[in-house]
Amino acid sequence: MQRAIVFGATGGIGQAICTDLASAGWSLYVHCSQNWQKACTIAQKLSRKYPQQDFIPVKLNFLAKNDELKEFVNGLLPVNAAVFAQGITDYNFVSSQSLTRVDEILQVNLTVPVKLIGLLEPALIKNDYSRIVFLGSVYGGSGSAMEAVYSTSKAGLARFAQAYAREVASANLTVNVVAPGAVNTAMNSMLAPEAMEEVKGEIPAGRLAEGKDISYWVKTLLDAQSSYLTGQTIYVSGGWLI
Ligand SMILES: NC(=O)c1ccc[n+]([C@@H]2O[C@H](COP(=O)([O-])OP(=O)(O)OC[C@H]3O[C@@H](n4cnc5c(N)ncnc54)[C@H](OP(=O)(O)O)[C@@H]3O)[C@@H](O)[C@H]2O)c1
Repeated sequence: MQRAIVFGATGGIGQAICTDLASAGWSLYVHCSQNWQKACTIAQKLSRKYPQQDFIPVKLNFLAKNDELKEFVNGLLPVNAAVFAQGITDYNFVSSQSLTRVDEILQVNLTVPVKLIGLLEPALIKNDYSRIVFLGSVYGGSGSAMEAVYSTSKAGLARFAQAYAREVASANLTVNVVAPGAVNTAMNSMLAPEAMEEVKGEIPAGRLAEGKDISYWVKTLLDAQSSYLTGQTIYVSGGWLI
């Protein structure tokens, strides 16, 4: 059985990823940080639709201590793929950002994903093939004012994926980043409607992405045939900022 863990499965993009992977035959760990009820509802709906597959809700706050990360990974059934669709941001000048918030953004977006990969690797490399996909951002390639720390975290993921892909390529474990532009999810809800219109006006495709525009590429990277693409960052941005 093919089983993936989708971190951030309760998010706008994470939900679309779960829908697409379930329809492609994957069993899933449906991860949340706070929204336990939402994770359970997603898992129940998918279980009803795909009764031959397993859908298991799991909870882990990425602000957890190292021992909790180890305990979490030790409690998992074997997985063939890990998708990192969790993430946080903060629209603020660096000088106005609390030091705690700087730590949190880097920990949730970058540091803990790197630690979890280290912990998951022994299980992943046992399979015939395995996949890791990180959700990056166009801001990882072209830094954004007011989101400098977030941009840093996403740039870090791209370089980590490139370097780590070279460590594990011979074990048939591919590691890639899908980097969206602006997506119609809760993450952008703090932006005023006028600001969103302004962003939309800058996107050559003329619209924001929907979750399924992004999940399509995640599903494709998890496919058994996507075995020779690794270490890459794929920008899925409607032509924006690339
Ligand atoms: N939306 C965009 O325009 C956009 C653009 C480029 C890149 N991205 C990237 O795409 C990914 C998904 O974004 P999205 O728009 O789907 O975001 P979203 O709707 O805000 O969802 C965020 C997800 O992250 C989880 N999360 C939040 N804090 C966490 C923590 N402390 N520990 C572990 N998980 C935590 C949330 O879990 P709970 O629901 O349990 O809180 C939720 O599942 C992120 O990496 C984001 O940076 C998004």
